[in-house]
Amino acid sequence: MPKRPEDICPEPTLQSVNADSLLNPGIYPAAVYRCADPDEALALLEGRQPGYVYQRDGHPNADALSAKCARLHQAEWAVVTSSGMSAMASALLAFVQHGDHLVVSDGVYGHSINLLRTEASRMGIDTTLVDTNDVEATIAAVRSNTKMIVAETISNPLLRVANIKALAEIARDTDAKLLIDNTFATPIVCQPLLHGADLVLESISKMMNGHGDVMLGMLAGRSDELARVRRVMSVWGLTSSPFDCWLAARGLATLPLRMQQACISALEIARFLSGHDKIDEVVYPGLPNHPDYQLAVDQFRGQFGCVVTFRLAADADGTADFIRTCQAIPFCPSLGDVSTTLSHPASTSHRSLSEEEQAALGIGPNSIRLSVGTEPANSIVDALDKALSQLSEG
Ligand SMILES: Cc1ncc(COP(=O)(O)O)c(C=O)c1O
Repeated sequence: MPKRPEDICPEPTLQSVNADSLLNPGIYPAAVYRCADPDEALALLEGRQPGYVYQRDGHPNADALSAKCARLHQAEWAVVTSSGMSAMASALLAFVQHGDHLVVSDGVYGHSINLLRTEASRMGIDTTLVDTNDVEATIAAVRSNTKMIVAETISNPLLRVANIKALAEIARDTDAKLLIDNTFATPIVCQPLLHGADLVLESISKMMNGHGDVMLGMLAGRSDELARVRRVMSVWGLTSSPFDCWLAARGLATLPLRMQQACISALEIARFLSGHDKIDEVVYPGLPNHPDYQLAVDQFRGQFGCVVTFRLAADADGTADFIRTCQAIPFCPSLGDVSTTLSHPASTSHRSLSEEEQAALGIGPNSIRLSVGTEPANSIVDALDKALSQLSEG
């Protein structure tokens, strides 16, 4: 019988600290907690008794946020880490070791590649990058010592959709774990564990928190790996801050509302851009011309995400002019805020790639990635339309 999230991250622990009856939880910045006697200290430190001793090993705000995350992903356990990258590091350090092999999607976040290939190689871990949308190529990349397959539900910036079910089968056949980075989807759009993933990761810094004021990550899973992950987080010091967890728990309360609004707007904006003569190409998994549209319909929960990528009918200078002109939409090289922001992959997230490598991924100097927020769709469409009309005048 699988454990329920509330059994693993018990609310009573929080309530016992929260002595007064506040409607909302307090912030517990304590670095260390007082123990009644050596017996209690031992019981707490060995995990036989719920409670807290030292913040790096756990604290009430992390547990409250973890419990919410576990419920959103229908996971048996979830942990909150100091960033999305430290969630990735936790998975690597907990489940992969010297002599093992990783299969990693060539479309994952640049720093994930830096960690899973460059840094991992220093620990004697071998990594193969592969187009995980090509099932045959992925099967061919797997070896007898492959311990983990890593892909993103929705990749950046081409918004390719992972075939989680197919990847889960490949992982199962070789006794590897499938880790899905769900940052661009959030559990509102997709719950990878329900499609066969073993582990799911979120950069809480993005849509999960949603207010651009927190740096946190999350790792969640289906089976009994929690003790190993907690140990790695404590020993490597990957733990979250109480204040960030408190803010993110507040942000998470509006995640369904924010994502619903943003996804509806994103589809409307994608349709508007598709018909515009100053736009060369629009990429959005909710448009039937997207290569993974059917996969998105099958795996997603009726929404297609809040990120739209498009190419302007302009050169690099024209694109820079568009970004300067589009004052109503701030140029921010991140995503997932309540307000709409735009980014330019060639000069930010993918700057370490050569022009040829960028082109191979479908990124040009004229590519723009829009992270749609909670404003009414027509105000975003108006801002884009205005900037596009000025582009045509130039
Ligand atoms: C898809 C994806 N995964 C992971 C991360 C890393 O998250 P963080 O910035 O919280 O470390 C990012 C950051 O941009 C990301 O885009």
